[in-house]
Amino acid sequence: MIIVSTVEEVRKQIKEWKMQGQSIGFVPTMGYLHEGHKSLIDCARKENDRVVVSIFVNPMQFGPAEDLADYPRDLEHDTQICESAGTDLIFHPEPEEMYDGDFCSFVDMSVLTEGLCGKTRPVHFRGVCTVVTKLFNIVTPDRAYFGQKDGQQLAVIRRMVRDLNMDICIVGCPIVREEDGLAKSSRNTYLSPEERKAALVLSQAVRLGAELAKTEKDAKKVVLAMKDKIQTEPLARIDYVEAVDALSMQPVKTLEGGCMLAMAVYIGKTRLIDNVLV
Ligand code: PAJ
Repeated sequence: MIIVSTVEEVRKQIKEWKMQGQSIGFVPTMGYLHEGHKSLIDCARKENDRVVVSIFVNPMQFGPAEDLADYPRDLEHDTQICESAGTDLIFHPEPEEMYDGDFCSFVDMSVLTEGLCGKTRPVHFRGVCTVVTKLFNIVTPDRAYFGQKDGQQLAVIRRMVRDLNMDICIVGCPIVREEDGLAKSSRNTYLSPEERKAALVLSQAVRLGAELAKTEKDAKKVVLAMKDKIQTEPLARIDYVEAVDALSMQPVKTLEGGCMLAMAVYIGKTRLIDNVLV
């Protein structure tokens, strides 16, 4: 496995692999890797000759009051996970490698980014779209892998690739959960033992929503039941619980034809997300 920190080094290696006719699978991450990330790497490993993982805590997708400085990092552990999952190359750039001092070009999206997480995180998806576009241009993968855990992000990336004619196949991968149901997340490390228990209410509400949606098609009723469930937990504060179309991220009244039940919930100071496709 090769670990590089400059764009030039990535380009040189990719060029060599492409000259040999090898396909490239790409997994963009912000590091502090867990089983969720590993499932993406495993999937990329199966479907491509070469696997590239980027580890970059992208400052542009964090708002001024968000957790950029505190975001957990552990390159040594990340390297072990990547190595054991059969990664060929890790791209781990410094922020200065990605953003020149006079950087002023952005990839922005309307509609899909206006609701859900976009409401409380107004600059987030511009940062995600911009960095993912840059990473795509650097790595030029055949396939790129994203988790359903960040359901809105996956929908946004799919739309960006379609709207901007990027010649990359986007592969969505299922949410990996802890044994008790909590969706794996680098941010779970912020939770105190008491909060960790309280955080279970997200996956419980998601499961309840999925179960109800089998028979109840009125989105409002299902969302209300999910909210009621979350509100039984004193440490939980709802940011949003919504039913949206799985592709457009627009609110739906009726649960039919591919919808997502999505939520963001504060457990103490930590904001956690979860969702299910129904
Ligand atoms: P990060 O939060 O590190 O996540 C990297 C990828 O891992 C994302 O596609 C995310 O959906 C996926 N992932 C995280 N937890 C998962 C879980 N429990 N099950 C399945 N997949 C999971 O998402 C980002 O980084 C950044 O926004 C990025 C796309 C790298 C751009 O900076």
